[in-house]
Amino acid sequence: MARHIAVIHGPNLNMLGKREVGIYGGKSMDDINSDIAAEARKLGVTVEFYQNNGEGELVSFIQQCRGRVNGIVLNAGAYTHYSVALRDAISAAQVPTVEAHISNVYKREKFRHTSVIAPVCIGQICGFGAYSYILGLRALLDEPLDPWLA
Ligand code: DQA
Repeated sequence: MARHIAVIHGPNLNMLGKREVGIYGGKSMDDINSDIAAEARKLGVTVEFYQNNGEGELVSFIQQCRGRVNGIVLNAGAYTHYSVALRDAISAAQVPTVEAHISNVYKREKFRHTSVIAPVCIGQICGFGAYSYILGLRALLDEPLDPWLA
């Protein structure tokens, strides 16, 4: 059975293409999702997309990923830097999760250098623009499949 991956965009990522274009690029979230979907087809995996600005909504969605998807590519936006609730949701979901960022957060303000979700993710990809999501997707293909989802 093909792997099924959830790509999750957190707060303000619905503004991509309009928001700080010098940092995040000119592609909209829908453009980025189309690129990810095209790559997924090439790789033989299926993807679903979710965006929400609310912390609680993201927590609920991650909970619903448990036992249902084989992996998550998560750009948690600013919640990355302080949301213990998101960290706990990832930990409880027991779904391999890649933390992805468009910008290189380590070249930016100090508060962006901390990720409270990194310790519960399998890895972190940042600084490659929208391609960070594609790299995240590819990285998940190397993860062992959960037996109950295989
Ligand atoms: C971001 C980096 C975060 O620090 C920021 O709050 C975002 C976007 C990125 O993709 O580079 O909203 O996650």
